[in-house]
Amino acid sequence: MVSRVIPVKTFDLVIFGGTGDLARRKILPGLFRRFCAGQMPPDAAVVGAARSDMDSASYRDFVGEAVREFGGEETKADGKLAAFLERLHYVPIDARGEAGWRELAALMRAGTVHAFYFSVAPSLFGDLAERLNQHGLTDEDSRIVVEKPFGRDLASAKELNRDLAAFFDESQIYRIDHYLGKETVQNLMAVRFGNMLFEPLWNSQYVDHIQITVAETVGVGGRGEYYDKSGAMRDMVQNHLMQLLCLIAMEPPSQFNPDAVRDEKLKVIRALDDVEPHHIVRGQYDAGDEGPSFREEVGDARSRTESYIAMKVGVSNWRWAGTPFYLRTGKRLKARCSEIVVVFKALNHSIFGEQEDHRNVLSIRLQPDEGMTLGVTIKEPGPGGMRLIDVPLDMSFAEALGENGDQTDAYERLIMDVIRGNQTLFMRGDEVEAAWAWTDPIIDGWDTRGDVPKIYDSGSEGPVDAVQLLARDTRVWRKVAS
Ligand code: NDP
Ligand code: BG6
Repeated sequence: MVSRVIPVKTFDLVIFGGTGDLARRKILPGLFRRFCAGQMPPDAAVVGAARSDMDSASYRDFVGEAVREFGGEETKADGKLAAFLERLHYVPIDARGEAGWRELAALMRAGTVHAFYFSVAPSLFGDLAERLNQHGLTDEDSRIVVEKPFGRDLASAKELNRDLAAFFDESQIYRIDHYLGKETVQNLMAVRFGNMLFEPLWNSQYVDHIQITVAETVGVGGRGEYYDKSGAMRDMVQNHLMQLLCLIAMEPPSQFNPDAVRDEKLKVIRALDDVEPHHIVRGQYDAGDEGPSFREEVGDARSRTESYIAMKVGVSNWRWAGTPFYLRTGKRLKARCSEIVVVFKALNHSIFGEQEDHRNVLSIRLQPDEGMTLGVTIKEPGPGGMRLIDVPLDMSFAEALGENGDQTDAYERLIMDVIRGNQTLFMRGDEVEAAWAWTDPIIDGWDTRGDVPKIYDSGSEGPVDAVQLLARDTRVWRKVAS
């Protein structure tokens, strides 16, 4: 199977923070891969901007090194990297200063898409928006891409939205949640709305409960300072897990277009129940063979920040009332595994007499080893009567779709969507605010009560209390396996 590359219009892409970690590891190598795929028009230009004193030649050296490290196999192909680097320019700019802006404005060609990627700390978003406006770069050809975290609570998210709205229309603002750029996350919509099979059963009448797991083996590493102020709730649940929940729970949009999809996601967030304190488990990893403890890594022996969270969430609407969603995410766990599991209800009558509890279970594996498994019940082979067993109908996307199944990194796809002007996979301002409005009281409750996370072993499945969270409802988590 050959993947289809849809050409985009020519563009000038400015990466503020073009020397930072995200630009080096994700944005620039991603652009290079799109270039190799033939998706970058011949005259598209990429401009790095940051305070570091560099010229375009030294920026090309810098990017060359980054792409060789993170760009994948294509970097070895003759001449490709050199041809890509020719597209690059660099302008030294301080987001809060005056120098460099005229030079930048002069590089922007009339009649092309101008995309400004704010790959800098959110505290600089307002300054960048204001300077772009001062230099005439906020017209209808312009769009901005902003990174997470989009605020740390409702008040700060509102302030950021206000800062950006002062100079840009909502249709020009692309708020990144890189989970939405993942192939398998988009597949959630394809599975739900592209098949006759699932949608009629996709409700509380047939679904017993849903589990959403995003487990990581890595710790916080060098991001301790950021993470200690954030925790799993702000870093993962408010955005990535929330988006997964929305895609699983939303009503079918009338069309696959940005506002239709985002309207439906927003309705889900607004229908989320407040979460009872005893429906949340917070954890923090201890030291182990895998590395130092969370507290050592963040440099605070009394840190109360969670590196793990498990919670039971209710969605109060016609479709889902009565079907709990169990979410969990954590660092330094046993295996890296992101998975959504839909557990259907037991039969209301078995014609085979007394049998063990058999249920259909649909697992959608987001990463790694992307795929889907549908557990079906069949007769156990051999004589001895009608005994039932559950077997998996298993599909690995890599096996089914071959090497073209999933080549595109989330960032590559999202950047090309920005150029195309397609906001479907980006968060709208009201969506982000609604997510914070739900998250804030949970975090405030921990602070008021002085809640301390449970310590769990590095390399384990998280705190035992998370097992009890489901056991109380006579349910069990799916094993986290790589
Ligand atoms: P880094 O600290 O590695 O890079 C920051 C970049 O901003 C550098 O290029 C720096 O260059 C530039 N910069 C800093 N201050 C200014 C200024 N006043 N004016 C102009 N440029 C400035 O951060 P990351 O690349 O890791 O993160 C960037 C953004 O992306 C953040 O919002 C982060 O939360 C987000 N993000 C990052 C992820 C990652 O994996 N790294 C993942 C998800 C989100 P210089 O010092 O030369 O000015
Ligand atoms: C980032 C979080 O947004 O997502 C990180 O800040 C986390 O803490 C990462 O590790 C997980 O992304 P992925 O694509 O590796 O699942």
